Amino acid sequence: MTDQIRRQLPIVGVAKVAHGRNAMTCLYRCGNACDHPVPNASGNEYFGDLVAGEVSRRGVMKAGAAGAVVIGMGAAGALSASPAFAATEPPPALPTVDEFTTAAATTALTFKAVAPNRVDAIVVPNGYDHSVVIRWGDPVVPGAPKFNVHGQTLEAQLKQFGYNNDFVAVLPLDKKATRALLICNHEYTNEDLMFPGFVSQDALTVEQVKIAMAAHGMSVVELERVGKTGQYELVTSGPRPYNRRLTTLTTHFRLTGAAAGSELLKTAADPTGTDVIGTMNNCAGGVTPWGTILSGEENFNQYFVGAETSTGDAKARFNRYGIDTVNRYPSGSRKWERADERFDLTKNPNEANRFGWVVEFDPFTPGSTPRKHTAMGRLKHEGANIIKSRDAKAVAYMGDDERFDYLYKFVSDKKVDGRNTPEARKHNLTVLESGTLYVAKLGFTSATEIDGTGKLPTDGAFNGTGTWIPLVKGGASMVEGMTVDEVLVFTRLAGDKVGATKMDRPEDVEPNPVNRKIYAALTNNTNRGVGSNAVADEANPRTNNKHGHILEITEDNDDHTGTTFTWRIPIVCGDPTDPATYFMGYDKTKVSPISCPDNVAFDGAGNLWISTDGNALGSNDGLFAVPLDGAEAGHLKQFLSVPYGAETCGPWISDDNKSVFVAVQHPGEIAGASVANPASNWPDGDFAKPGIAVTWSVWNKNIGA
Ligand code: FEO
Ligand code: CA
Ligand code: CA
Repeated sequence: MTDQIRRQLPIVGVAKVAHGRNAMTCLYRCGNACDHPVPNASGNEYFGDLVAGEVSRRGVMKAGAAGAVVIGMGAAGALSASPAFAATEPPPALPTVDEFTTAAATTALTFKAVAPNRVDAIVVPNGYDHSVVIRWGDPVVPGAPKFNVHGQTLEAQLKQFGYNNDFVAVLPLDKKATRALLICNHEYTNEDLMFPGFVSQDALTVEQVKIAMAAHGMSVVELERVGKTGQYELVTSGPRPYNRRLTTLTTHFRLTGAAAGSELLKTAADPTGTDVIGTMNNCAGGVTPWGTILSGEENFNQYFVGAETSTGDAKARFNRYGIDTVNRYPSGSRKWERADERFDLTKNPNEANRFGWVVEFDPFTPGSTPRKHTAMGRLKHEGANIIKSRDAKAVAYMGDDERFDYLYKFVSDKKVDGRNTPEARKHNLTVLESGTLYVAKLGFTSATEIDGTGKLPTDGAFNGTGTWIPLVKGGASMVEGMTVDEVLVFTRLAGDKVGATKMDRPEDVEPNPVNRKIYAALTNNTNRGVGSNAVADEANPRTNNKHGHILEITEDNDDHTGTTFTWRIPIVCGDPTDPATYFMGYDKTKVSPISCPDNVAFDGAGNLWISTDGNALGSNDGLFAVPLDGAEAGHLKQFLSVPYGAETCGPWISDDNKSVFVAVQHPGEIAGASVANPASNWPDGDFAKPGIAVTWSVWNKNIGA
């Protein structure tokens, strides 16, 4: 049973911006992106003809292999810089390809929905329980000092769990998943809530700025299951060879692919244009079929200053990525340039080009060199998730999280090697280095009926066809007037040129391993149809879209390497009493209110799980689940809610449906809050330790039992 602390909050201000997210989250999360001009000023409209699709290429479907993930490794210097460009040596035993493909199951979603609320607690259905797994400051690298909010040091933070989690993956280390690796992204920091007595970014010491940099990035920690339950605990003793921190200060992230070494990526410190220090604003991500992690570098723009001195093409490129060219927030920027001149574009004009990539990272090889894949394009990557095509290509689906930006997919040139051998492992680690990069253009069946109210068209569906437009293919640019390097580094501009469809903030985009369709969370877009911005269309059917929707893509002939697809909107979010909402036609009196879908995931039965960020209905964010077929299709129910001020991230559903992991990102992030005056007391109650950045599990009961 839960032990909820049902105190009513807030205890500090509730400043909210129009779309429901708190002003403090806006400042720290994305640098007040909504207050900036919409970066996509292109005039591309989207009523073009669709081109004929490629011939379907079907291969033999490989049976999902079950396999052990028992790995014996020597001790690792998890904190030490990875060796520059060292070949990634495979460990003696390896995750089997397909190990991470969820097996089909028949789980029904029988839990009783959690009611919308604003309590400062985790709320789960009756019969379920939960526990904190890890939080900011907990030890990651063996030998990490005990957390002390009043005595923070850079040396400590480099060894401790980072701040605000988004992506969560739990990868088993043995057949029964009694031990597992937890991999998390640390998206951003909130210095108001990190440092006691915070006054301003300018007043922070240089070491505090570096602590914030070190609290970004990723963590890997080992977990142990508690008995046969779904509960996991952090392993806090023993060698823990996989435990590792990657931060904005970690040396040697290798750029791969066609743009690696480009003039656009060279800096004074790295004349090779291939060797980047650090990663940042790591938002969502994915797990590859070969067991590596993909992590999206998202709102990197907010960390750079000095673009106001740029002119011409350089200025246009900065503007398209939301990098401040007018010194709009001189007192609100992060001031990282005070600690590291990489972030001053007057000194390092190409440094920003070295962020905004998909990072691939092998958690099973201690010391492995993380890589940034230029072949997958540069945008505000929410994440990247892969499905294997019928002919064994790796196909990654990706969203660019900005109002009026685009959906992308990447199809590898190479096939995934399904053997469980060191040679196959080595090959698979090169699969994302070359391929075709596409952007989505959507066509409509009811274009003339869309009036921006969300009213369903007479054919009964928001739906249509679509085309994947190639941007780079066969190593050549497919975009007139742009080189391959330019397309990969300034991918948004390439999308503009080919007339991609402007979407309502494409966040997580994930293939469903059971029905092989693609699901995209379109969080919201309160600028849709407002002022001179693009008007509502069938794929983004509401003016002033506060609550977002889900887009489903079905590749023609189940060919994920192809160029044509159909799409529909299964769920239009909001309060179900609002006629502008839609839940696959299900009885709306029985579904939970949902607002601002952000991350998606799937359980073993292929049910869709949706976490939310910025609930504009006035309740706390949460995690929801909905069947996608059968009589219950569209019966969306809230599975949990997170504490006051938090967004729900992850989520991760274990293969045996016993555990749900979510990241509770930025609890208590409410304007006016501070370490001394918190807006959330979760999870300690006494705020002995700021309760930021926690993942936790629901356990003891199968989700559908
Ligand atoms: Fe970091 Fe798009 O959420
Ligand atoms: Ca229609
Ligand atoms: Ca997100």
